[in-house]
Amino acid sequence: MPESAYDPEAFRALGHRLIDRLADYLGAATSGASPVLPPSVPEDLMAAFPSDFPESSSGESCFLSEVDRILEASHRLHHPHFVGHQVSAPLPQAALSDLISSLLNNGMAVFEMGPSATAMERAVLRWMADLAGWPAAEGHLTSGGSIGNLGALLTARQIMARLDTEGRAAIERPAMLISEQAHYCGARAAHVMGWGREGLLAVDTDDRFRLRPEKLGEALLEARRRGREPIAVFASSCSTSTGSYDPLPAIADFCAEEKLWLHVDGAHGASALLSPQLRHLLTGIERADSLVWDAHKMLAMPALLTGVLFRNPSHASAALAQKASYLFDRDPDEEWYNAGHRTLECTKTMMGMKLWLALRSRGVGFFRDHVESRHALARNFARELEAAPDFELAVMPESNIVCFRHLGAEDLDARQAQVRAALIASERFYLTQTRLRDDLWLRTTLINPLTTEADLADLLESIRRIT
Ligand SMILES: Cc1ncc(COP(=O)(O)O)c(C=O)c1O
Repeated sequence: MPESAYDPEAFRALGHRLIDRLADYLGAATSGASPVLPPSVPEDLMAAFPSDFPESSSGESCFLSEVDRILEASHRLHHPHFVGHQVSAPLPQAALSDLISSLLNNGMAVFEMGPSATAMERAVLRWMADLAGWPAAEGHLTSGGSIGNLGALLTARQIMARLDTEGRAAIERPAMLISEQAHYCGARAAHVMGWGREGLLAVDTDDRFRLRPEKLGEALLEARRRGREPIAVFASSCSTSTGSYDPLPAIADFCAEEKLWLHVDGAHGASALLSPQLRHLLTGIERADSLVWDAHKMLAMPALLTGVLFRNPSHASAALAQKASYLFDRDPDEEWYNAGHRTLECTKTMMGMKLWLALRSRGVGFFRDHVESRHALARNFARELEAAPDFELAVMPESNIVCFRHLGAEDLDARQAQVRAALIASERFYLTQTRLRDDLWLRTTLINPLTTEADLADLLESIRRIT
């Protein structure tokens, strides 16, 4: 490989030109001048980004022209009309932190491979744990809420089913109780662990799509009728479709009585812990055993950055601790500074750095304001929808996710699908849809800090104009 590929001055020059392009991209997106999602047909994109790589190429100019094409063909999450999935419009400064991570590549299964990264990971986890009111907690950062929930449930199985090193378990056929509204990764984790369909008991939700704790007993008995022994309840704080918070105090009572592990999926909603006005949504968290919290959702971080916390610190390495003489010398407890004892990943990015740097340089208040303002925007939008005779609100939001329907058509499902398709084709808005109790609803996540009430009024007017 030619040394020039590592030339610092060439890197400096290319970096400046790249940042200029990214800043232009950001400006066009935040001002609403660019499309939200450009036309995106999978076959066309495959053809535009082929795998016929040249034997040699001109380096810098090719890099930049290809970057231009990538930016052109990408979904603009910074556009104020991006009200789609629960993925942040990342803080631009955090994107620069990812650049540092990519260059330093201090992947950190062991402290020696990422000394500062390890310290920042622990600092960020400590911050999250303190907000949850878990003074002794231990945990790790990982690559997304799905992996985080799997890691937490592997631990629940290890502890509750008492798996030994020979693969024998005191409880051989475990099961988990989970709301029918929970994110699919809960069910996937159960399948990954080999529990099958019978090992997952869906619990009904109330009229606001929150798990009904009085139904947990029935689900437990049903599991036992199937020859299964429940070991855990998977609670959503909050759920994906409607952003509904399961009632943790009653669920915690049930778990205490039945001696079950209480896992809280706070991938989207744990950020409410930052706000004195909103943290009541997670009342009861102090009694949970494990918590998953995505910073790439409500904390404006680029993907991926997930905290996995265990209230009892001895649980943090229970499922994953492994012997590997090339990495670890001693027990996980003694080697608390080696994150690899606790994570599914071996090598990973310096993921804690982006949040650590953002908290240091922006302050906690910046993030609290963001969470509170998005919740307030959602409440106001919901009130607008309630007052509008031609719209129906699915449920008053507890979080920043608002589901609604446009009325006035005979086939309401077809109307919502038509509205969504037309809005996306217009390139002016991006929103999602979800099925609630068999009906199709439009779904918005108000996660972009630049989205205003005027943007949402524009959304409703644009929907009315679709014929
Ligand atoms: C409640 C909840 N849990 C878990 C996940 C999965 O997170 P990730 O996409 O980071 O894997 C999501 C994603 O939307 C979610 O809403």
